[in-house]
Amino acid sequence: MRQIRIAVIAGDGIGPEVIGSAIEVTERAVGTSDVRIEWTRFPWNSDYYFEHGRMLPPDGIEALRPFDAILLGAIGHPKVQDHVTLNGLLLPIRRRFDQYVCVRPAYLYEGVESPLRRYGPGQIDILVFRENTEGEYANVGGRLYEGFDEEVAIQTSVFTRRGCRRIMEAAFRAARKRRRHVTSITKSNAQGFAMVLWDQVFRDVAQQFSDVETNSLLIDAAAMEFVRRPDRFDVVVASNLFGDILTDLGAAIVGSMGLAPSGNINPEQTAPSMFEPVHGSAPDIAGQGIANPIATVLSAAMMLEHLGVNGPAKALDDAVRALLRARSPRTPDLGGTAKTADVTRALLDHLP
Ligand code: NAD
Ligand code: IPM
Ligand code: MN
Repeated sequence: MRQIRIAVIAGDGIGPEVIGSAIEVTERAVGTSDVRIEWTRFPWNSDYYFEHGRMLPPDGIEALRPFDAILLGAIGHPKVQDHVTLNGLLLPIRRRFDQYVCVRPAYLYEGVESPLRRYGPGQIDILVFRENTEGEYANVGGRLYEGFDEEVAIQTSVFTRRGCRRIMEAAFRAARKRRRHVTSITKSNAQGFAMVLWDQVFRDVAQQFSDVETNSLLIDAAAMEFVRRPDRFDVVVASNLFGDILTDLGAAIVGSMGLAPSGNINPEQTAPSMFEPVHGSAPDIAGQGIANPIATVLSAAMMLEHLGVNGPAKALDDAVRALLRARSPRTPDLGGTAKTADVTRALLDHLP
């Protein structure tokens, strides 16, 4: 019997709704295997913030270190500024645990309609590798003369050769297991320091992977191409901010934010990795029981795969595929009227 320990941060808004669903179906998926999961819930969210004035206790992040992985719902509350909640919890975890690879697939499943007319099942199949620890998210800067007309805000990007190289190498390694094509997302026409370094490192890394084809696109053109010709993308490697923006677009072209999973990976496994849907806490639908739990279920499947629990990971993936193929039940984001609980039950029915 293998025991796995997962830290759970359900978070805010629809976070607890989709996490509840994902834990239920994951429990069923591992049920017939020799794996047992111990889920440990951490109550860190905006309510915790209202009560304690901080997102987590001082030793909070270190309390997560002993776990095999972290499963997170979403963080963000309309009554607290996002930079407070996100810089208080989510972003520090990604950095402290050196989860420098953020993997975000965008796959068009059978039974799901893309808003792009010409695309059918499997014809959009993009894997975004987003740099996850530096770049535009480095959180370096400051404000001067706060509140005065002379006020200045400086937000600095930090790009390191090592940081660029390691995310690019991860992207190339993944491309070797796919269609052997990597697109680098840049903006070196306007960002003459950081993005020029990014481009140089991309060319260097590409030389080590001469069996993989490459392309470099400016972010603005890449956004257009995601809509116009998404089939030209296989693996995409992008900086923290560009990867963030492109993966919402990626989710939209494959049908819904409610289908997009993500993994924040520490490839060297020197600290736990964290798995979470791409979407946020969706305050506009929170509490209504209509959030699509599939993005979180697929994130849990990525987590199991990362931990080498391959059978149950595939079972979860197969259950999602079967449910989508059946076109029912579906939550409103996919054009249906089903509740989160209906989708959860249907997923359980599709599991062995
Ligand atoms: P969002 O992803 O929460 O929502 C965008 C839109 O997609 C909304 O209309 C929402 O209803 C819909 N949507 C998202 N997930 C869905 C699901 N599972 N099922 C059905 N519909 C879904 O983005 P936002 O509105 O820009 O942000 C809301 C809050 O979440 C903000 O506080 C933001 O900072 C935060 N946020 C957190 C994370 C995270 O914790 N990882 C990620 C993104 C945004
Ligand atoms: C995401 C989110 C976060 C990000 C926010 C909430 C800080 O949008 O995971 O995509 O930008 O990384
Ligand atoms: Mn995002």
